[in-house]
Amino acid sequence: MDKKVMLTGLQPTGVITLGNYVGAIKQMVINQDKYNSVIFIADMHSITVPQDPKELHENIRSLVALYIACGIDPKKNTIFIQSENEYIANISWLLECNTYYGELSRMTQFKDKSLKHKNFTSGLLTYPVLMAADILAMDTNVVPVGIDQKQHVELTRDIAIRFNKKYGETFVIPDVMISDSGTKIMNLVEPTKKMSKSSNNPKSVIRLLDDEKTI
Ligand code: AMP
Ligand code: TRP
Repeated sequence: MDKKVMLTGLQPTGVITLGNYVGAIKQMVINQDKYNSVIFIADMHSITVPQDPKELHENIRSLVALYIACGIDPKKNTIFIQSENEYIANISWLLECNTYYGELSRMTQFKDKSLKHKNFTSGLLTYPVLMAADILAMDTNVVPVGIDQKQHVELTRDIAIRFNKKYGETFVIPDVMISDSGTKIMNLVEPTKKMSKSSNNPKSVIRLLDDEKTI
């Protein structure tokens, strides 16, 4: 029998943190033999907020290296860059036309980020639909993510179910995979927030490339 598909993606927005490792990557490593595993670089997601193009380009390469260093075996995983798969943006548009503004404006991450960025783009609002396209394009069965992304996977399910009802069986309905421990590693300075790799305060995060003294 064919293996089920497991897929996740991380944004190339800096050196990954302990949160990224525990929330997403470790689960991919643990389960890579059991599933047909796909891990990608979510570069299109990262440009929903302003990025330095040169830095972004460098981060894409170093994130692939970090995946491998964390134990993602390139022989057992399909590793790719989101923007190099032209189907994703295409499918995203079809899904966008079947997603309601109300659904997107209720997403917790959108509410938080739109407050942080004064002139936020429409991409910040439609970001979860692009994520749904990543997942649905690959007939994904399970999506390992930290708890902060659970809402987006639930929206993906809603969109897929709606699409299938309207146009006939098209998409596989994915399940979220949340690890038992460490679903949300907190910021070390502001413990009500999640540890984030885009944080400007080095004291708030443990990065996977930090040396022992820095940690
Ligand atoms: P991002 O940093 O937004 O690209 O997140 C990539 C993956 O890491 C997603 O699955 C997130 O849910 C997960 N993640 C990010 N920060 C944390 C955290 N502090 N604790 C647990 N998981 C996290
Ligand atoms: N939105 C996710 C994050 O910021 C990254 C991501 C993009 C993702 N597409 C995905 C994760 C598809 C899982 C599946 O953390």
